[in-house]
Amino acid sequence: MFSDRTPAPPDAILGLTEAWKNDPNPSKVNLGVGVFKDEKGRTPILQSVKDAEAHILSTATTKSYMPIAGAPEYAQHVQEMILGAGHPALVAKRARTAHTPGGTAALRVGADFLKKFAPNASVWVSSPTWANHKGVFQSAGFAVKEYPYYDPLTKGLDFARMIESLANVPAGDIVLLHACCHNPTGVDLSAQQWQEVAAVASQRGWLPFLDFAYQGYGDGLAEDRTGLLALVDACPELLVASSFSKNFGLYQDRTGALTLIAADSASATASFSHVAIAIRVNYSNPPAHGGLIVSTILGDPARRVKWEGELAAMREHIARTRTTFVQALATHGVPGDFSFIARQKGMFSFSGLSDAQVKFLRDTKSIYIVGGGRINVAGITPSNLDYLCASIREALAIR
Ligand SMILES: Cc1ncc(COP(=O)(O)O)c(C=O)c1O
Repeated sequence: MFSDRTPAPPDAILGLTEAWKNDPNPSKVNLGVGVFKDEKGRTPILQSVKDAEAHILSTATTKSYMPIAGAPEYAQHVQEMILGAGHPALVAKRARTAHTPGGTAALRVGADFLKKFAPNASVWVSSPTWANHKGVFQSAGFAVKEYPYYDPLTKGLDFARMIESLANVPAGDIVLLHACCHNPTGVDLSAQQWQEVAAVASQRGWLPFLDFAYQGYGDGLAEDRTGLLALVDACPELLVASSFSKNFGLYQDRTGALTLIAADSASATASFSHVAIAIRVNYSNPPAHGGLIVSTILGDPARRVKWEGELAAMREHIARTRTTFVQALATHGVPGDFSFIARQKGMFSFSGLSDAQVKFLRDTKSIYIVGGGRINVAGITPSNLDYLCASIREALAIR
């Protein structure tokens, strides 16, 4: 069984971090994996998280199993975070939430659940999308297709082609949408464009599956739910995969959620029982720690205010870094208009660097960028900015 196997290729993103770790060059820069970094290049534990952990440690009384879908109060906090407290779908009890190990498991549990009831559906993802999306849905047995999204010429959204493609997605298929801070491009829809997508979803009858991995990293917790709210208004059913890896910095605690919104409460309960089965046969029930942190923070007004402040600081740091980067590229005489970088949202930017240029930066400068040219803007710090800009200038001379 195990002999003579060809090794699998390294993961497109996590494999890059391994290569970066093993690189002896002291000037090495990691712009690969999507992890927040402060101006010193650190990924610190949020103070609100540390405080919540201390509280949990001193008050916890058991390590017994969690319910399959996690704790009910966690579900309520997640629902209020993604929809806003008092949202009509919550009042009508149309939402059910499972605590999952990260956003990835939320996507996979959602995929396994959908495969049971829509075995012949296709899953549509944006072109381009997060490298793991295709793998997750294909592993669940789905055919994955692409809808146009990014226009390399304008470095913005190709909305005309996107909406045309979505208008032709068959009823019953599944469309994966990035709720905000599109990964890898940083290009998001306007409120008006979300309305149009929601109208098409409702007319066509395809199922929206929102990947909400960066709530609070775009314009704010409430602002970033604009697309989700438009879809909930227009569509009776949808799924949402939340990740708290970035906005709570809980990367290694694997904390996320799958929320199912159905046409009515009875349908939600019945459907959600199948979500529970998808979980039970996979990882049985979620790891408690990260969920306890989220509930401890969101359930206490003072802790929540502190966390929201820390989240705003991360968001503002990235926005500032974008502007600083654009200015520094100009100062270094790097040819071209990079103002699009300052307009993009969230942690990522599609730099426009070609694969040859990305390879040059990795091989000769120890600057690690994901193939396709996605840059983690948060990896840019005052101490690597000049080296980075000078190296990009050299790289752009390569065709
Ligand atoms: C778009 C997108 N979806 C989902 C995830 C998965 O998040 P998690 O690490 O919580 O599994 C990520 C993480 O990078 C992401 O960028």
